[in-house]
Amino acid sequence: MFLVGFMGAGKSSVGRALGERLNWIFEDLDDRIERREGRSVAEIFRASGESGFRRAEHDALRDLLAELGGGGRIIALGGGAFVEQNNAALLKHSGLPTIFLDAAVDELWRRCCTQAQEAGVERPLLGSRQQFRKLYQHRRRSYRRASLTISTRRRTVEEIADAITQTLGLKAIAIRVEQGEVE
Ligand code: S3P
Repeated sequence: MFLVGFMGAGKSSVGRALGERLNWIFEDLDDRIERREGRSVAEIFRASGESGFRRAEHDALRDLLAELGGGGRIIALGGGAFVEQNNAALLKHSGLPTIFLDAAVDELWRRCCTQAQEAGVERPLLGSRQQFRKLYQHRRRSYRRASLTISTRRRTVEEIADAITQTLGLKAIAIRVEQGEVE
């Protein structure tokens, strides 16, 4: 399952929460990009521009899709990944569900600013409030093409994870540990 949506939508937090409750593997595509390239997303943008980053993003997504086995996996995509036609086509071809985490643009902006101030999260495309809003409006149509839209308005991460699990009827994978069986 792929989580899509704008910067600050909560894709990574919700993905991690879903991974824990379902015993599914969680992966953030941006982390894979950084590993493959040996530099941070911000460094890729600085050295190779947005086009260089998009190439790296597409290559990482290809790798990831080639690796997907039968087990449950949750992947958080960066805010621009699903907007790119070549990525959207790969995802469609995979047949796996894509979930758009929706939120009001003012809320997204507030979250990104808090994350930048409190955790030093660097987002090369954050821009000004006006640029952020414009980019969001431009992209929202693409996000709506996801298989499912989930509103994150006034919901905690756990409540959003509940909504996704219930709507898709997802089941936890039973994992075995040495001492016994745990579900
Ligand atoms: C981007 C969003 C970022 C990251 C990169 C580009 C975008 O991910 O992939 O900075 O184009 O919106 P988050 O959505 O996790 O912030």
